[in-house]
Amino acid sequence: MAKRNEVYRCAECGNIVEVSHGAGGVLVCCGQPMNLLPEKSADSTTEKHVPVIEKINGGYKVIVGSTLHPMAEDHWIEWIELLADGKSYIQYLNPGDEPVAVFMIDAAMIEKGSVIAREYCNKHGLWKNK
Ligand SMILES: [Fe+2]
Repeated sequence: MAKRNEVYRCAECGNIVEVSHGAGGVLVCCGQPMNLLPEKSADSTTEKHVPVIEKINGGYKVIVGSTLHPMAEDHWIEWIELLADGKSYIQYLNPGDEPVAVFMIDAAMIEKGSVIAREYCNKHGLWKNK
């Protein structure tokens, strides 16, 4: 049973979907159930993936990660997402970009600790911090 904001990936073709409305059915792609991506938060890989949330004037900056993650043609951060105040903001990235996203939002309205950042690395999956 899918839930809002869960991210699923097809092991066959690589399609990735984020759920905007969860219901009872099984998500299927290429004739098989899609895999729910776990939200990892502890980094044991050599490059750092856990997104770092920085409060800036007028919003938030999210950096991947504590040392900048590579943005190479075969290994990069595909997107950075900020979840706050019932809203979802996504910055899509390309190889060669900085693994950084700035979200100008009315941060004063947002309760401390209710901001969540997630990012997706094409090799190492989904990562989360708050
Ligand atoms: Fe990675």
